[in-house]
Amino acid sequence: MRKVCVIGASGKLGRYMVGHALDRGYEVVGVCRERSVPKLADFADRITVVPGDTNDREVVRRAVAGCDGVLTVLVPWGVRQYSSGTAQAVLDFAEPGARLVFSCGWHVARDGRDRYTRRFRATVRVVTVLARLLRAVEVDDQVEAARRIFASDRRWTLVRGSDLEEGESQGLPVWSRHVGDPVLASNLTRRVDFALFMVAALTDDTLVGEAPAIVGRLTPSALAHAADGGSPAGHGAP
Ligand SMILES: NC(=O)c1ccc[n+]([C@@H]2O[C@H](COP(=O)([O-])OP(=O)(O)OC[C@H]3O[C@@H](n4cnc5c(N)ncnc54)[C@H](OP(=O)(O)O)[C@@H]3O)[C@@H](O)[C@H]2O)c1
Repeated sequence: MRKVCVIGASGKLGRYMVGHALDRGYEVVGVCRERSVPKLADFADRITVVPGDTNDREVVRRAVAGCDGVLTVLVPWGVRQYSSGTAQAVLDFAEPGARLVFSCGWHVARDGRDRYTRRFRATVRVVTVLARLLRAVEVDDQVEAARRIFASDRRWTLVRGSDLEEGESQGLPVWSRHVGDPVLASNLTRRVDFALFMVAALTDDTLVGEAPAIVGRLTPSALAHAADGGSPAGHGAP
């Protein structure tokens, strides 16, 4: 891994990913909306910024050229297929063989074996309907983006985040293939560690073709799982 592109670099997750990528000595190209370029001021002399909407195919094509890895923050803003447009552009234009790592939430199901609580399902349903009515967010489009990623023959990983909080890093989150597994029960990850997982996935071939659902390694459910003899936190699915 030499050069990576961060699509959605100016957001909270994006900026953490830029930081982790620079810490690893990678050359970084960041894509963000023109108005958000100042949010990358801290990194200004260390990264290349390509301003533009993340679903602008020409912007994505230019930004991912020559990149060995692409880290994409999938966000379903508006009712304009923003997430699926972003995912499709990355799938279409990333270099052959590049590692593609995308972010989303637990609500994106992988293979019918995720188990959601009734409350979680109800919340997602309400948010989906309300957000669409307000024409603010298109939750379904993140699901469509995931469908396209799953169907592609690229070297992809779709990282499914739990609820997030700010705070000091606790290290690499634990993951599982299925939402509902006991190890994930705490449903909380530090955002800085979500970013760490995304960047670490670039060089972890065991995550190719996986949609890991993650949780903080120091959360009660992760610790209980490790105490029960589960795989050590940070080392993959139980
Ligand atoms: N928040 C959670 O609790 C949670 C939980 C699980 C998973 N996730 C996943 O984590 C990832 C990051 O989410 P986050 O909530 O932490 O947010 P975030 O990192 O702050 O990212 C928000 C992104 O959305 C962009 N954005 C905001 N308004 C926009 C608009 N109107 N049009 C286009 N782009 C817009 C921001 O760009 P600008 O800098 O240009 O504004 C930024 O890149 C997402 O993939 C999300 O699905 C989040």
